[in-house]
Amino acid sequence: MSHPNNFSLLLSITTALLLLIIQALHPVKANYNIMSYGAKSDGQSDSSGPISSAWQAACMSTGSSTIYIPSGTFMLKPITLNGPCTSNKIIIQIDGTLVAPSSYSTAIQQWIMFKQVDGVSIYGGTINGQGQTLWSCKSSKEWILIVLFLILKSLIFSNSKNIMISGLTSINSELYHIAINGCEGVQVQGVKISAPGNSPNTDGIHVQMSTNVTITGTGIKTGDDCVSIGPGTTDLWIERVTCGPGHGISIGSLGKDKEEKGVQNVIVKNTVFTGSQNGLRIKTWGRPSDGFVKGVVFEHALMQNVQNPIIIDQNYCPHNDGCPDQNSGVKISGVTYNDIQGSSATQVAMNFDCSPSNPCSGIVLEDIKLTYGDKLAESSCKNVDGTASGLVVPPSCL
Ligand SMILES: *[C@@H]1O[C@H](CO)[C@@H](O)[C@H](O)[C@H]1NC(C)=O
Repeated sequence: MSHPNNFSLLLSITTALLLLIIQALHPVKANYNIMSYGAKSDGQSDSSGPISSAWQAACMSTGSSTIYIPSGTFMLKPITLNGPCTSNKIIIQIDGTLVAPSSYSTAIQQWIMFKQVDGVSIYGGTINGQGQTLWSCKSSKEWILIVLFLILKSLIFSNSKNIMISGLTSINSELYHIAINGCEGVQVQGVKISAPGNSPNTDGIHVQMSTNVTITGTGIKTGDDCVSIGPGTTDLWIERVTCGPGHGISIGSLGKDKEEKGVQNVIVKNTVFTGSQNGLRIKTWGRPSDGFVKGVVFEHALMQNVQNPIIIDQNYCPHNDGCPDQNSGVKISGVTYNDIQGSSATQVAMNFDCSPSNPCSGIVLEDIKLTYGDKLAESSCKNVDGTASGLVVPPSCL
């Protein structure tokens, strides 16, 4: 009598085990189309509800999951998509356009925010921040407060890991387009960013307090820094990025605070700057700080009519407020410029204006060729030490 029972028990255990193995090998791929959560592609109806619901479902699914945003225009009010999630692979496939409400709100600091997520990838799509309304306040008294305290971002990843942003287009962000803050392992690839050259504070990609970030194959036209690199950035790789209009690729501003994390191990290669305010810039406040910049390689850059192709400015102090007669405490060391070519729009094509109390050291110039129309370009050195090799034009002042 006991035999058949044991046999059926064994059979069901085996079946259960087999199912588990099959599930492990082929995890359930769940698909969440925002249309089935009631989204409407009329450019008017708020799709934050449907997108939140799709996010909840994707986040709680086991195995990998995909959120699908089909073609069409979806109006989206500010939204925060929170982790941690059960799924460690969430793909957000966007064929359509997400558009922000046209009037700005002072109650928020970001439009689309991901917080504490791990393994999220965004593919394709367009996000339109409709920044024009906010930019028109630039001449108002409140503007300085808006910029200092709101720092509106179109898309931000905060305290997250293993993130991919691929093939996304971001247009007319209110302020920053994309921000990466407190993250580990972020790939930004094939992204297009565009806002008018005179739009205020519309940084392209801002990275801070993050490690292992790569930005590749990306074109940025905007009104402020194409890429801005803030305190606490380490292991940052930037390759095949075009910039202009814009304020260049900028490490900084750094050293605004007394206690600040440094920037270390940054590589910027194969870049093209067109008509931008700066090319490769390091910028620090003229204020006491224990921040630093260490181990930076800028190589293979083409400058086309760039105002400051190579610049270190350690005397940043807008409106001379809060730093008169003070020196930057940020120590800059080990910065290599290799194969930087093209045209400068001003006579001083290479400008090293370092801190009197913390001179720059270990600056290396190799194969620099920068012209200034049919006049001679110049280089300028203050409180800087380093070496030059190969052809260096304008002649090195190191
Ligand atoms: C860097 O991040 C990527 C994900 O973007 C990850 O695959 C890789 O292992 C990370 N590398 C290190 C050294 O942590």
